[in-house]
Amino acid sequence: MLLATAYSTRAAAGDLPALVSKNGRHALMVDGAPYLMLCTQVNNSSAWPAVLPKVWPAVEQLRANTLQVPIAWEQIEATEGQFDFSFLDTLLSQARDHKVRLVLLWFGTWKNNGPNYTPAWVKLDNQRFPRVLTAKGEMLNSLSPHAATTLAADRKAFTALMRHLAQADATHTVILVQVENESGTYGTARDYSPAAEKVFQSPVPASLVKALGKSKGSWSQVFGKDADEFFHAWSIASYIGEIAAAAKADYPLPMYVNAALRDPISPGPPGSYASGGPTDNVIDIWKAAAPAVDFIVPDIYDRRFDRYTRYLELYGRPDNALFVGETGNDIPFARYFFAVLGAHAIGFSPFGLDFTGYSNYPLGAKAVDADVMEAFAANYRLLAPIAREWAKLSFEGEVWGASKPDDGKSQLLDLGRWTATVSYGEWQFGMPDWTWLGPFDKPAAATEKKGGALIARLGPDEFLVTGLSTRVTFGIKDKGAAHGLIFDRVEEGHYESGRWVMERLWNGDQTDYGLNFTTLPQVLRVKLATY
Ligand code: DGJ
Repeated sequence: MLLATAYSTRAAAGDLPALVSKNGRHALMVDGAPYLMLCTQVNNSSAWPAVLPKVWPAVEQLRANTLQVPIAWEQIEATEGQFDFSFLDTLLSQARDHKVRLVLLWFGTWKNNGPNYTPAWVKLDNQRFPRVLTAKGEMLNSLSPHAATTLAADRKAFTALMRHLAQADATHTVILVQVENESGTYGTARDYSPAAEKVFQSPVPASLVKALGKSKGSWSQVFGKDADEFFHAWSIASYIGEIAAAAKADYPLPMYVNAALRDPISPGPPGSYASGGPTDNVIDIWKAAAPAVDFIVPDIYDRRFDRYTRYLELYGRPDNALFVGETGNDIPFARYFFAVLGAHAIGFSPFGLDFTGYSNYPLGAKAVDADVMEAFAANYRLLAPIAREWAKLSFEGEVWGASKPDDGKSQLLDLGRWTATVSYGEWQFGMPDWTWLGPFDKPAAATEKKGGALIARLGPDEFLVTGLSTRVTFGIKDKGAAHGLIFDRVEEGHYESGRWVMERLWNGDQTDYGLNFTTLPQVLRVKLATY
């Protein structure tokens, strides 16, 4: 069985969290074993001791195992050189009490393109910490990546934070750190300040030319119409990469950056989206410029199925671990959990699920109400008990995921010898084409954007199968000498300390119409055969 390898699914605490990659797949190792981040992110202004009581009940209700919380530069270094980590210490202690791991988000030079989270002594001093200038000389509210003073100040603060964490967090409650937040600049493709111009007129650095397999030359010669944007991406990535490398020298936790995305199908010009940030077209530049950044994360707020799944393809790469580090918290986003995990993701995180009364429609829900909470809680209720097993199966072998598409049509998954059809909006018994029965109602779920399934290979003919509001029907591609497919066994059960425990067999009405998953958490081991 695939689960019995060198490390257990629940190894002992103590190992430093790490990102590992093998055969083009990735795992976030926590306590020495692959870990699946069933995450949520607090609202931007929830990172204060007074607000945490409105955070934990939401985390508990969701059954999240991981929480993303900003640590703002303005909060830890309000006065230059004087550091205050009291919020972090409070957060660490409360997270441990709640048995929840943390991902810290460093809100420094960039928070959604701007320096609003830098201390007043930074954001109000244009001389010492210069801002980006447009081609027309207008000053934007985005700091220039070409100021050594800004880099030095941010690096000092971020390394101080990581150094404090190294001594305050021996048990690794914090498993991952995001460096800056949605970097890039709106309103221009790049910085045109004199400092930036000087670098832009120099040749493209040899390391970048080599990494991309290009010929030497100026930015315009090498990159043509993309020169401005690619230059800005290189400049920001180099800056952030330097900060990450400096902090890792003190405390080498895995680190990532997140992207304010551009439309993957019809992107506008750079500047209409955050130019220079890690958008899909500059991932290779970021990889070359910032090797200390372990992976790049898409923040997906687009509800459309084609866009959502395209982002998963663009950011899930052999050289980039997929983590949906932010996604909309509206009900239609919850179903994408299945497509995300099927793409071998190491985690998923709906944004802003705390009880501070905020909602972020149109990017997210109109209200964080009981229905919204339940849509995401149902996912985690299903996966929390098998999170370690899933993370290991996803890292070591084949997994598939399907989320209900916008048109509600069924999807065919290729499992090698077998196929799985994932369909939606059906009753648990019976087939939608039973016309002999006369007209009958469709389930309410037929019109809802809900539902998805997950499958992991356990062996050539054996699969772990689960889902919500969906039907999974297996098929055989080539019958050969056989007459057809039959279930050898369909076991429902759960894992205890990495070992499968069967609760019952499914048969008869529970298998005759496909495997029907409702809103209850059900995990199956399915063994296929032929007769
Ligand atoms: C993306 C940002 O990264 C978050 O900090 C937050 O501002 C959300 N947008 C709000 O939708």
